[in-house]
Amino acid sequence: MAKVTSKWVCQECGHASLSYIGKCPECNSWGSLIEEISRKKSASQNLSSETENSFSLISNIDHSNIERIKSFDKEFDSVLGGGFVIGSLILLSGEPGIGKSTILLQAANHLSRNLKVAYVTAEESIYQVKLRAQRLNLQDKNLLLLAENNLEIILDLIEKEKPDFLIIDSIQAIYHPELESTAGNVSQVRECANKLLRLAKDKNITTILVGHVNKEGLIAGPKVLEHIVDTVLYFEGEKFHNFRILRATKNRFGSSDEIAVFEMKETGLKIILNPSFLFMSQNKDSVPGSTYSALVEGSKTIIAEIQALVGGTSYTTPRRVANGLDYNRVLQIIAILERRVGFNFSKHDLFVNLVGGLSSYEPALDLSIAMSIVSCKQDVIPIKKTVYIGEIGLTGEIREVNQIENRIKECIKLGFERIVIPYNTEISSNRFKEIEIIQGKKVLDAIRSSLTTAQKNLATP
Ligand SMILES: Nc1ncnc2c1ncn2[C@@H]1O[C@H](COP(=O)(O)OP(=O)(O)O)[C@@H](O)[C@H]1O
Ligand SMILES: [Mg+2]
Repeated sequence: MAKVTSKWVCQECGHASLSYIGKCPECNSWGSLIEEISRKKSASQNLSSETENSFSLISNIDHSNIERIKSFDKEFDSVLGGGFVIGSLILLSGEPGIGKSTILLQAANHLSRNLKVAYVTAEESIYQVKLRAQRLNLQDKNLLLLAENNLEIILDLIEKEKPDFLIIDSIQAIYHPELESTAGNVSQVRECANKLLRLAKDKNITTILVGHVNKEGLIAGPKVLEHIVDTVLYFEGEKFHNFRILRATKNRFGSSDEIAVFEMKETGLKIILNPSFLFMSQNKDSVPGSTYSALVEGSKTIIAEIQALVGGTSYTTPRRVANGLDYNRVLQIIAILERRVGFNFSKHDLFVNLVGGLSSYEPALDLSIAMSIVSCKQDVIPIKKTVYIGEIGLTGEIREVNQIENRIKECIKLGFERIVIPYNTEISSNRFKEIEIIQGKKVLDAIRSSLTTAQKNLATP
C-alpha cells in the first residue's frame, strides 16, 4: 500500500517543510504553509524518459526535423517559435476573463480539421463551450469535448481516444484522487502537471494547460509548474481595452521574446498585424502633453503615444502617477528635468500614461516621456508628426538605444516626418532621405529644438 506522508507546503512558492512554520523561509510569506497529506510519491523524479541513454555527436543531430503543428494563425505560431512542437507541454497563463478559453477554442477548432483534438473543460460545462463556439462562429464538427475534473478519469479517456492534441482548461480545476488535497493547491497542480507531462511525452500528445494567474501576476500554484512545462505563454491585456498580447515567457523550442497582438471581438480574437494604430490616440492634431515613441517587443516595433498631464497640486507632497510605464523611471525623468534643465515640479501633480492600456518599461521611451511632460508644463504643442526615441541618463544626456533601425523604419511606415534620436547613433545614410532625423546630445537640446519649432506651431484655438 502507498505510504501516507504529511508535509507543510507554501501556497506561494511550493517550498515544503516537515513541520509547521509561520514564515516561509523561501519566499518570506507569512501564514502561507498548509498541511498536505499524500499517499503518493512525487512523480517528478521519473521525468527523464525523454533523454536517450547514450551520447550523440553534435554534428549528427538534426534539429530541422522537429515536427510542429501550425495553429490558426501565423503570428500565434511565431510566438511558439514556428508552431506547437509535437509532444510538447505548453502552459497558457493569464488573468481570469482575459480570453484563454476563447483563443484555445479557436485554435482547437482549427486544429480539429486535420488532427484529433480533445478539449477538457474543468471549469465550464460542455454546453457553455458549445455556446461559446456558436458565438465565435466556429463551424468545425470534429472537436472532442469533455467536462471533467478528475485526472484519473481524464487520463483513462485519453488512453482510449488517443488524441493528437489535448487542452486542459484549467490545471487549477483538476485533481488527482490519490492526493487528499483539493484541486488548485500546490501539490495537486504539481502532481497533475507531472502526470500530464508523462502523457505528453510517452504518447506524443501535444498538450496545453490553462493556468490562471493570481492578483500579483504570478501563476497560481508552484513556480515548479513553469519548470515542468516546455513553453510558458502569457496572455495579457487590460480588461477595459480590447487588445490582448500573447507572449512566450519561456520557450524550450524557440525565442521567448516574440509577441502577437489580438483584438477581442464578439466573434473572438482577431490578429492585429499593425498594432501601432491601436496605441495611438484618435487625436489628429497635436496637443500639449502628447508625444510619440517607438517601442520594441520581440521582432515587433510599436509606435505608442505617451500623454502627460501636469497640474497644480493641493497636497503637500505632489502626486505622481505612471500608467503602463515604470513609475521609478518617471520619477527619475522628473528629477533630471528639474536638476539638469531647470524645471520645477514641486507644486505640480503629474500623470503620465502610455495610451491604449499598453505596458512598457523600455528606457527608449524616456525622451518621449520627458517631452510630453515639458510640453504640457509649458502648454506648447510639440512639433507635429515627430517620434522621440532615447534613454535619458542622470546627467541629462540622451543615450543610445537598441534596434534603432527597426524603430525608424516603423516611423517611416506610419507616415511620421521627423524623429529625435540620440546623438551618436549609427544609422544608414538612406534613412536621412526618408525622414528628417534630429540627433540630440542632451535632453535640453531636444527640448530646445522641439519647443522653439513648436512655438511656431502654436495653434490658435
Ligand atoms: N458576448 C460577448 N461579446 C464579446 N466579448 C465577449 C462576450 N462574452 C465574453 N466575451 C469576452 O470574452 C472574455 C472571456 O473570455 P474567456 O476566454 O472565457 O477568458 P478566460 O478563459 O481567460 O477566463 C470576456 O472578458 C470578454 O472580453
Ligand atoms: Mg476560461
